[in-house]
Amino acid sequence: MAEIRKAEGIADWIDQRLAIKKLDKVLMTEYWVPKNINFLWAMGVILMTMFAILFITGLFLLMYYKPDTKLAFDSVNYTIMQEVHYGWLWRQMHAVAASVVFLIIYIHMFTAIYYGSYKRGREMIWLSGMLLFMTFSAAGFSGYMLPWGQMSYWAAQVITSIFGAIPLIGPDLVIWIRGNFFVSDPTLTRFFMLHVVLLPVIIMALIGLHFYSLRIPHVNNQDGEDFDFDEEAQKYKDNKKKESKVIPFWPIFISKDLFVVGVFLIFYFYLVGFHYEFAMDPINFIPANYMKTPTHIYPEWYFLWSYEILRGFFFDIAGIKPFTLGLIGFAIANGVFLILPWLDRSPVVAPAHKRSTGFKIWFWLMLLDMVALTIFGKVPPNGIYFIGKTDITHWFGFIPDIGFFILLFIMLPIVTIRERKRLGGAR
Ligand code: HEM
Repeated sequence: MAEIRKAEGIADWIDQRLAIKKLDKVLMTEYWVPKNINFLWAMGVILMTMFAILFITGLFLLMYYKPDTKLAFDSVNYTIMQEVHYGWLWRQMHAVAASVVFLIIYIHMFTAIYYGSYKRGREMIWLSGMLLFMTFSAAGFSGYMLPWGQMSYWAAQVITSIFGAIPLIGPDLVIWIRGNFFVSDPTLTRFFMLHVVLLPVIIMALIGLHFYSLRIPHVNNQDGEDFDFDEEAQKYKDNKKKESKVIPFWPIFISKDLFVVGVFLIFYFYLVGFHYEFAMDPINFIPANYMKTPTHIYPEWYFLWSYEILRGFFFDIAGIKPFTLGLIGFAIANGVFLILPWLDRSPVVAPAHKRSTGFKIWFWLMLLDMVALTIFGKVPPNGIYFIGKTDITHWFGFIPDIGFFILLFIMLPIVTIRERKRLGGAR
């Protein structure tokens, strides 16, 4: 057993039992971060902050929310919004955070793509990040169901029926997911369970894995420079701080991060106070009515790009049913970023502006394509968007739909293989 001596204070007493000084070194004061990074590297800490806000505001909402189809709508729209002191504030903070967190996730993902931070030993960081993205998406969707408004109900109807297109097991699977033959009370209660228990627990475990997977390869830097962290850390400890390429996470790096978090929070609270409506669809202030389908059903802005892929393939190709084709496209679109580190065939880790012209063009086209998909995903499939009997948005929207797959499965491997060959390196 470890030697226990008379403690010199509370910190020493705890340290003798839990080795907190060592933990503090490993996680904070001797966790080394490159100096050469910019504000985009603060997105991870902003995401942590947003998750904390979602968790805390969620706890307050949970005290009054009723997961019952007869009570849910009123518990949100009357009890929380009008009767509970500051209930409106908790709800607006929760809804705005749920929306803004996706904006930051997309910035974080595209920063990693721009700087090539998903390869050369950083594949596990990327994979755990993608799993976080998928779990956050499931949490966003299940949360959207809880107020039991018209959009909650019909979004649940559309998304759960997607599973019906899976061969053989599809129809039974839909009943199993809904807990009934149609979207109803058991559906609401199981999505409630997912939203408040299972998904947050999985998210916390994945955040742990994401941070742990940063340990060995360390954080990338603005030039993709590969240096010896131990050597640079030694320089820092030997008081050659200017010469060293690293700084400790605590208290130096975190102070920079917290500054960016502070600026972000000003923007966030501005939205909470003055523009919360962008995170809440007006149709969702109408109670769920299974007899009345809204003319235009669409998801929150952060799902529009994959929703557009789902509906973009709604025509018959080679006898495959449109629904099945849309579903296949949707499933691939949501999972394809998982294999990004292997679709990029070049060993180069550098910012896009220092890589081959092909990669540079690919990056901006990819970003543009996702924005175009998002815009088309919101356009209603009726009204002025029809010329004669032709849904023009369907056909224009099909360009970024198909472009998405061409960019990822054809253009990216080609430009990166060419980049590798130009360097004369083998992979
Ligand atoms: C949603 C919760 C997430 C949290 C809390 C989180 C947190 C962090 C933190 C703190 C860092 C280190 C500093 C930084 O680069 O910002 C980081 C790095 C990284 N994250 Fe995330 N992240 C999340 C989601 C994601 C997603 C969705 C992806 C992409 C699929 C991703 C991919 C990465 C990569 C590749 C790095 C390494 C960056 C580098 O080495 O420069 N993360 N993350």
